[in-house]
Amino acid sequence: MDQFVIEGGVRLEGEIPVSGAKNAALPVMAACLLTPEPVILHRIPEVRDIRTMARLLEHIGARVEFRNGTLRVEAAEIGQPEAPYELVKTMRASSLVLGPLLARTGRARVSLPGGCAIGARPINLHLQAMERLGARIRQEHGYIIAEAPQGLRGTLITFDRITVTGTEDVLMAAVLAEGETVLENAAREPEVADLAELLSKMGAQIEGAGTSTMRVRGVARLQGAEHTIIPDRIEAGTFLIAGAITGGDLLVTQCRPDHLTALISKLLQMGAEITEGGPGALRVRRPGRLYAADVTTEEYPGFATDLQAQYMALATQAEGVSLITETIFENRFMHALELMRMGADIRLEGRRAIVTGPRELTGAAVIASDLRASASLVLAGLVARGETIVDRVYHIDRGYERIEEKLSRVGARIRRISV
Ligand code: EPZ
Repeated sequence: MDQFVIEGGVRLEGEIPVSGAKNAALPVMAACLLTPEPVILHRIPEVRDIRTMARLLEHIGARVEFRNGTLRVEAAEIGQPEAPYELVKTMRASSLVLGPLLARTGRARVSLPGGCAIGARPINLHLQAMERLGARIRQEHGYIIAEAPQGLRGTLITFDRITVTGTEDVLMAAVLAEGETVLENAAREPEVADLAELLSKMGAQIEGAGTSTMRVRGVARLQGAEHTIIPDRIEAGTFLIAGAITGGDLLVTQCRPDHLTALISKLLQMGAEITEGGPGALRVRRPGRLYAADVTTEEYPGFATDLQAQYMALATQAEGVSLITETIFENRFMHALELMRMGADIRLEGRRAIVTGPRELTGAAVIASDLRASASLVLAGLVARGETIVDRVYHIDRGYERIEEKLSRVGARIRRISV
């Protein structure tokens, strides 16, 4: 199992490029199941979740080729419309194939996801919406079996709460349904809009993507298409925080600053300096001290839950008390306990973390509990005195493309070891 060994205390300086967004790549890959024609996707990050999704598409019967960030998927025929437990248990986003399979073949068998490190994370909202579209749903042996032998029918769907992959899953079902589907209280994340863009290139008729109401006029078939996915706003945000936490001077390139406004305004409030560094680039510096600032996670365009753990590492270095409230997931503070082992002053009260800073962090052996928690521990390691060993690096490999290489190139002393 791999570990990262980090020697803290180096200011990061230089240019650091952002990869394509994992959470945009996963739904667009699932969308390839909607057509028998080839779909070409560019800027796909080489991370573990992408390989898992590729395996899932192959299991279903698609031909998948992945070279230099370009993925070609051809689902000429659907062999088995199913997402098996072996894959779903390693990646919950596997449930994204439910909508496309149901729409294309009238049948899908998808394992129910089990427990998760960050919360219960059910898929009930996906299922309710599929039922509204006319699917019959039953549960058997840990699997959901969805059937719509007569095809899906467009209707009004109002999500009880905002769900990102739920919106994506249902959107992919609706594009081939008969008639019009209206999605109310839809997720507005850029990844949803990116999926809608690919679907439109494939011939889907979608209005309102990126807003909370989407209208979809179903079509009989979709065609192949070519698409470049958006940059990863969470990776970009992690690098901005890396610049701020180390007091460095980083140019984060190939990103979309307009997808990062909530984080940027917090970093400015804390005393970091963020300026435009040319098209698609942001420069982060820290002229003086950092000051505490409260954060509440929200759906986009609010502050992303996927940046909460990294923000907490930064808050340990800010003067004063930062109140961090997590509203999206009920159990997403595992990193706090590890940060405390490194010397952070954090009190947990239900969904709130009260971080008092600044505190000097000292290197320790820590364990990553999920993808973003591991990023938080790497950030803490960059600023800690002495050596930090981050265990269970496979979590970070799910979503960050060669993070240790990118950070090394801007001066970080970080190396991967296999134990
Ligand atoms: C997506 O997960 C992301 N994953 C997550 O990123 C991200 O943290 C999350 O959105 C929130 O932004 C992908 O895009 C692949 P939700 P998703 O459905 O879609 C509850 C990362 O680190 N809910 O928007 O699964 C749910 O439990 C990952 O890259 C239901 O109750 O999240 C949660 O409390 C982790 N029933 C809330 O809604 C449902 O049917 C929002 O979850 C669906 C969701």
